[in-house]
Amino acid sequence: MIIAIDGTTASGKGTISKRLSAHYGLPHMDTGRLYRATGVAALRAGVDLTDPDAVAHVARHLDLASFDEADLRTADAGKAASVVAAIPDVRQALFELQRAFATQPIGALLDGRDIGTVIAPEADAKLWVDARVEVRGERRWKELQGQGSDLTLEEVIEQLRARDQRDQSRKDAPAEMAADAVLIDTSDLTIEAAVEKAIAAVEAAIARG
Ligand code: DC
Repeated sequence: MIIAIDGTTASGKGTISKRLSAHYGLPHMDTGRLYRATGVAALRAGVDLTDPDAVAHVARHLDLASFDEADLRTADAGKAASVVAAIPDVRQALFELQRAFATQPIGALLDGRDIGTVIAPEADAKLWVDARVEVRGERRWKELQGQGSDLTLEEVIEQLRARDQRDQSRKDAPAEMAADAVLIDTSDLTIEAAVEKAIAAVEAAIARG
């Protein structure tokens, strides 16, 4: 079984993915981590993020074990990820890794932006997780405050808008809901309620075959 969970930043996609992977006993790949790692590695190496060949080279030689989780979660890492994710050769470099994970015999759950459309269009269940940008902004702002950030709520919402816009308007594999995905809007849901809704949607998709 393959479960594809796509959606926007700070929508609750990551939490829902972790909970569903435990519920179904499926290995989980957070594919945003690959783009974040590429962005951070490029910044560390002093590579110009707008140089497609140089960034693609970084993506092809990623050593995922060399990253501290906290370094990948910063606002700068997220922004760098969104910039490098628009480079077709970077997406190509990370494709096989994701495809191999998706097609392992035990099954898999992957979360990202293009899992249901590009990486695993044959997935048995596809979700698109989203929430109003103001709600996502507040969640992200609280998280950033915990990290000592002094960004205002308005600035964080503006950054999310810019990120959505960049992810959705890129030519190669734009972040978009697959035609056969089910929308889970977490704006007014607790984590528990959102997870329940996601499981119900997966069950319905499996029953439909
Ligand atoms: O889900 P996230 O915030 O960790 O993703 C970081 C960036 O990576 C996001 O702006 C878009 C990009 N991304 C992508 O283009 N395709 C994916 N499958 C996952 C993430």
